Amino acid sequence: MAQRIVVGNWKMNQSLEAIKKFFVEIQKLKASAKCEMWIAPQAIHVPIVKEFAFNLGLVQVGAQNCSDKESGAFTGETSPQALNDLGVSFVIIGHSERRTIFNESNTLLNAKLQTALKNGLNVIYCVGETLTEREQNKTFNVIETQLMEGLKNLPQPNDYHNIVIAYEPVWAIGTGKTATLKEVNEVHAFIRKLLKGQNLTLPILYGGSVNTKNAQELFSSNEVDGALVGGASLKGEDFVSLCQSASIFA
Ligand code: PGA
Repeated sequence: MAQRIVVGNWKMNQSLEAIKKFFVEIQKLKASAKCEMWIAPQAIHVPIVKEFAFNLGLVQVGAQNCSDKESGAFTGETSPQALNDLGVSFVIIGHSERRTIFNESNTLLNAKLQTALKNGLNVIYCVGETLTEREQNKTFNVIETQLMEGLKNLPQPNDYHNIVIAYEPVWAIGTGKTATLKEVNEVHAFIRKLLKGQNLTLPILYGGSVNTKNAQELFSSNEVDGALVGGASLKGEDFVSLCQSASIFA
């Protein structure tokens, strides 16, 4: 198995001061990290995080969202072309906060995915069910729809290799309630099967209240290629601990 991928989704958090502190902590990992480290700060912080990351030589810097258009009269939007100009290597598409708060549909997310790939960005495409959907036994249906609609009609077969899937049950995000390993394995295996049906092999991350205490157990699973982490990725010492847990399974 390839090295685990540990992705920090900083959401709309982190001051400049906090970012500096984060990277002081991360220096400590330099020699020992045997995992991929990806960080998605707020878009406005990308250049400064890139600078720190460049000095360290280990961290991939990404964005949390982008427009489905390359340019034009779309006030307030971020173009994937501009992200590429800044050396951003990946973008998160389909996070549940985008789906719910900003009403982003699978159709829009598919358009974003296409434009992002066309502009040389790797994509973390997020899927996940709400608590109600899980309770109504709709988990697999929801995941299948999100996956198939989000990934359809991509221009080049090779584009698929630039996609990472993140399974994030909505009820586990920011709630402190992690899915059990059994639940994670079950959904990851289901996603893997769906992808295989399309001749695709893509890494699958788990996200939703991953922290320094539960990370090792999650990374121990062959179904889990890495983690997409919100709250526990903000402090350098926690991120270091997550990466150390991931490195055990390199
Ligand atoms: P959390 O967020 O780790 O704080 O639950 C995960 C995410 O939203 O990607």
